Amino acid sequence: MYTSCKVSQGVISALGPYGGKQRRGKWMTAFGTLEKGQHHRDQFSSTCTGDVISTRLGYTFAHLELCIDLFQDTYDPASLRDFTDQLLLYVESGEDSGLLTKDDLDHILLDLAGSGFQATAVTLTWLLGYMALNQDVQGEVHKEIDAVVGRDRLPSLEDQPYLPLTEAVMCEVQRLASVRPFLTPHRTRKGTVIQGYDIPRDTLVLFNVWGLHHDARYWPHPSRFNPYRFLNEDKVVEIPDHFMPYGAGTRQCPGESLADVQLFLFFTAIMHQLRALPAHPNMTLEGALDHLLRPKPFCVKVEARD
Ligand code: HEM
Repeated sequence: MYTSCKVSQGVISALGPYGGKQRRGKWMTAFGTLEKGQHHRDQFSSTCTGDVISTRLGYTFAHLELCIDLFQDTYDPASLRDFTDQLLLYVESGEDSGLLTKDDLDHILLDLAGSGFQATAVTLTWLLGYMALNQDVQGEVHKEIDAVVGRDRLPSLEDQPYLPLTEAVMCEVQRLASVRPFLTPHRTRKGTVIQGYDIPRDTLVLFNVWGLHHDARYWPHPSRFNPYRFLNEDKVVEIPDHFMPYGAGTRQCPGESLADVQLFLFFTAIMHQLRALPAHPNMTLEGALDHLLRPKPFCVKVEARD
């Protein structure tokens, strides 16, 4: 996926703590980032009590180390296979000025695998579930895609501006599902006051995105699936400030634009080709929380569209 980006750009976009576009103001800039030289692994062990989390992270790191070793053994700078090879080249060529250790490589890959691709896959699963449960809206999405794309080719990114309802459906599912219901834990590096609340130094701060996305002051009938709330009277997508599936501030998700592109291409391709129906009349969608809010297993029937 990253083979076409320049090595330095690829690395910087994955690494940069301030890489995400600053679309939503300066929320949370008072909150701390990791200290220089401190890793997520240390942050987890100091802020999460569960042995379970440490054990699972331990497995993940062990697996990543194996992968990196395997890639190192079979690495050929003349034929880069993927992002891991790009990273190895970046280090080998000295472009990193000696800054990256093997431990850093583990963390970059962990960030991508853990923070990135799972959240996208989980969002797509929610999308499929909501489409199965909302046949009327799914029908409208099919109509919109057919009118803009036709039946002879798959949707492409150029179609995106002409598919407002499809976009609105993706936003509404991201709001309802809130797959990252709490942002990454942050720690205050100095005492601060927010809306009259004293937050002392060294407080662990968890931002409740799920709460914000289900707050009736901002979203009338918050638990209703209503994609039209993201469309203005001219049927143009309007994204309010209180919608933040990717977080906000300096640690906002740096993969936002990639995730948006992936979600759009996968979702529109699926809708172009298939109709999702509940496999059982009493199908329900419920979330189960680990580090992501995933839908509990559900069954849908899919039919090929003509
Ligand atoms: C639908 C998909 C995604 C969602 C909903 C999502 C959401 C988030 C959220 C809420 C955060 C925490 C932000 C904060 O604490 O303020 C985050 C962090 C992060 N995301 Fe994503 N993300 C998605 C996809 C991706 C992808 C595709 C990548 C990379 C390929 C990615 C890479 C990261 C990284 C590296 C971080 C940690 C940033 C840091 O701590 O500075 N994410 N994401």
